[in-house]
Amino acid sequence: MIIRKMTEADLPQVCAIEKDCFSDPWSEESFAKSLQDKNNYYIVVEIDGEIVAYCGYWGIVDEGHIYNVAVKKEYRRQRIGYRMLKALLEEASGRGVDSFTLEVRASNQAAIGLYESLGFKPVGIRKDFYAKPREDAVIMWLESIQQFPL
Ligand SMILES: CC(C)(COP(=O)(O)OP(=O)(O)OC[C@H]1O[C@@H](n2cnc3c(N)ncnc32)[C@H](O)[C@@H]1OP(=O)(O)O)[C@@H](O)C(=O)NCCC(=O)NCCS
Repeated sequence: MIIRKMTEADLPQVCAIEKDCFSDPWSEESFAKSLQDKNNYYIVVEIDGEIVAYCGYWGIVDEGHIYNVAVKKEYRRQRIGYRMLKALLEEASGRGVDSFTLEVRASNQAAIGLYESLGFKPVGIRKDFYAKPREDAVIMWLESIQQFPL
């Protein structure tokens, strides 16, 4: 298993996973724009040359916002999401990011469980944040990476 920085060449595979995972998927263009923003950092997980997972963060000063976390269906529950996010947090921490936040659908127990396993705590709700279907978002924070032994 290789964890590495995402490049534009990865986007067809990334977007195929994105479409399979989300009812309102990001387009290839949105990912391409994000990759060009120097405040963003995206990684992919590759197994035998195939991209099986990806995620990214937008960092500003010491705060990171995590986006687009997905693992291909056939590869779930193998700790890939955990190892990938751990690698993302380590990378961000190396650039001085200390606290992290993200939003997750209130019903998404798998993702909430994953984030909790990394030290994130639910701190609030954004009412009707998501469409297709409409649903609240749980706002989660990891207040300081120092509190979580990577
Ligand atoms: C959420 C997601 C990224 C988890 O990836 P994963 O590689 O399967 O997760 P891991 O195997 O690393 O699991 C780590 C921990 O998360 C929790 N978890 C993961 N999947 C879970 C599930 N289906 N039910 C309950 N807890 C779950 C568990 O605590 C797990 O630890 P354990 O295996 O020791 O019990 C994956 O299910 C996914 O891509 N879902 C669709 C896209 C999505 O919802 N993304 C998040 C948007 S905010």
